[in-house]
Amino acid sequence: MTGSEPAVSRIDTSRPHPARVYDWFLGGKDNYPVDEELGRQIAAMPGDAPRHARANRRFMERATRAVVRESGIRQFLDVGSGIPTEPNLHQIAQSVVPDARVLYVDNDPIVLAHAAALLRGTPEGVTEYVQADAREPERILEEAASVLDLDRPVALSLIALLHFIADDDGAHRLVDTLVGALAPGSCLVLSAMTADFDPENVRRGIEAYTASGVTLVARSHAEVGRLFRGLELLEPGIVSLSDWRPPTAEGQEREEPVSLYGAVGFKR
Ligand SMILES: C[S@@+](CC[C@H](N)C(=O)[O-])C[C@H]1O[C@@H](n2cnc3c(N)ncnc32)[C@H](O)[C@@H]1O
Repeated sequence: MTGSEPAVSRIDTSRPHPARVYDWFLGGKDNYPVDEELGRQIAAMPGDAPRHARANRRFMERATRAVVRESGIRQFLDVGSGIPTEPNLHQIAQSVVPDARVLYVDNDPIVLAHAAALLRGTPEGVTEYVQADAREPERILEEAASVLDLDRPVALSLIALLHFIADDDGAHRLVDTLVGALAPGSCLVLSAMTADFDPENVRRGIEAYTASGVTLVARSHAEVGRLFRGLELLEPGIVSLSDWRPPTAEGQEREEPVSLYGAVGFKR
């Protein structure tokens, strides 16, 4: 686990932070009044942001299981990991392959303050955390090289991260640099906000985040497709998270689409 000064002393409680607002949506306790205020404001809008947050966690779980089971990948690089929320990605991966190696990365000191919970993995596996900014992909690669074998396939998870990073602030550079450095057989697991299904509510959500000083960008299907350039998509391709291999139970109705695209793409 790396971070230069005590994480708690660097937590800025004067403005909302994405990790903590998301924690509030998920019913967590690791947030501050300023995060709850923005969370409540957005949750009161018709789009039902907490449902989106829960659907996103379920996508992470389904996609991670699919990657482990269908590709045999045993190494994971999760950038924008968020405040620990069970089941965490390493718990999902290590429940299938106990020797899975996982490196978590986030730039928010609150995640570092709670990272101990991320580091309780299986004895056979490796679970590490590093504080780093996604807009510095070279540094992430350096850190990753000390935990993961980059000559072997890695699953790169960018889950609900890229809507906090605009294209001209490094979103494409992050994807191109990391995917470019990974071995053939690696994959990108991504979810990202879109206004394609519910433009009016997404626009209001973006306005609320932006007024609080948080960058939030929505991407169209084509823009998300560009992030997967050169990768071979797993079925069903780029779809609303709720339609990405939804759990099927007899008589269960199709969930309303959530305003996040999700997909998994392999580097061949
Ligand atoms: C909505 S949370 C998603 C957490 C987790 N990936 C999930 O899907 O449940 C977004 C996370 O991205 C992190 N984040 C935002 N911008 C970042 C950046 N530039 N570098 C690293 N992490 C960032 C936030 O701190 C937050 O923890």
